[in-house]
Amino acid sequence: MKLQMLCLALVLLAVETNAIKQGKNVTIPALLVFGDSIMDTGNNNNLPTLLKCNFPPYGKDFPNGFASGRFSDGRVPSDLIAEKLGLAKTLPAYLNRNLKPDDLLKGVTFASGGTGYDPLTAKIMSVISVWDQLTYFKEYISKIKQHFGEERAQNILDHSFFLVVSSSNDLAHTYLAQSHRYDRKSYANFLADSAVKFVRELHKLGARKIGVFSAVPVGCVPLQRTVFGGMLTRGCNRPLNYMAKQFNARLSPALESLDKELDGLILYIDVYDTLFDMIQHPKKYGFEVADRGCCGSGALAVSYMCNILNPFTCSNSSAYVFWDSYHPTERAYQVIVDNLLDKYLSKVF
Ligand SMILES: *[C@@H]1O[C@H](CO)[C@@H](O)[C@H](O)[C@H]1NC(C)=O
Ligand SMILES: *[C@@H]1O[C@H](CO)[C@@H](O)[C@H](O)[C@H]1NC(C)=O
Repeated sequence: MKLQMLCLALVLLAVETNAIKQGKNVTIPALLVFGDSIMDTGNNNNLPTLLKCNFPPYGKDFPNGFASGRFSDGRVPSDLIAEKLGLAKTLPAYLNRNLKPDDLLKGVTFASGGTGYDPLTAKIMSVISVWDQLTYFKEYISKIKQHFGEERAQNILDHSFFLVVSSSNDLAHTYLAQSHRYDRKSYANFLADSAVKFVRELHKLGARKIGVFSAVPVGCVPLQRTVFGGMLTRGCNRPLNYMAKQFNARLSPALESLDKELDGLILYIDVYDTLFDMIQHPKKYGFEVADRGCCGSGALAVSYMCNILNPFTCSNSSAYVFWDSYHPTERAYQVIVDNLLDKYLSKVF
């Protein structure tokens, strides 16, 4: 008798847990992403910039080998996180001209490769600044209202996950153009303060669940090793990693206090440690190579330098942490995103 009741209780518990899980999944209507090439799924394709990659071998491991404009061999974190949230296998780029109103409902990415928190970064690269991405977001919301009504738009604002991923280009490139105005530490602090300002703006526009990526160990990308890491040693660019860490040290507590101040949820998402560990111990994660990219010679090639005319592209990108000399492979992104889901997303949803 007692055993039967226990069994019944367990069955009920199982049913309930399942319902909560499904409920959790159902309550996230959309994923909306702001940032740079880590998150761009094709917004740069139609911009007058040299920073694009809608040609092979980019997309080599994407369905049908399609070079969609993603800065990788396959999918990027916008896609992988949308999949984790149960939304879609790929997240559309907002500036894709073929998008229909229905395609907007599960979210889009406004991210633009080459951009940063510093407005100068987008200007130098002729791409969309994160601040202009907010303008596109306003347009997105008004399109949702126009086609699906106020209530639907409000639901998307209240319950969607908003993700902000930037800083690598500011730290790695724009700092060199700003070093007469800032030292390393004060520039990193300026960027972190800009990120906080961005989150405030996004919250003002109605976003309520906002995650912000930390800076990555951008001093360890193959390009930085080649240029700054010493001819033979090709070590990481340490001063650059120091800046990334300073950015994180400033950003993390600032977001924590913003989370207390504002309604909703503001989340600092650390990706530095996971990527750094993957680069230092690639074998631990099933990778063979972490100091060169798969594409071309792997030491310098990005965008147009990594093209079909370059005969050295590796055959198995899954063995590489980096796809080109700046961007991780889909498989490396998958390891990071799986790690994030365990650590953060499962707490939120
Ligand atoms: C949501 O559902 C999808 C598909 O059923 C699943 O793969 C994903 O892990 C779920 N996400 C969460 C956060 O539970
Ligand atoms: C590609 O590399 C990965 C990681 O080293 C390995 O697990 C996989 O078997 C390789 N695939 C092929 C087709 O060689």
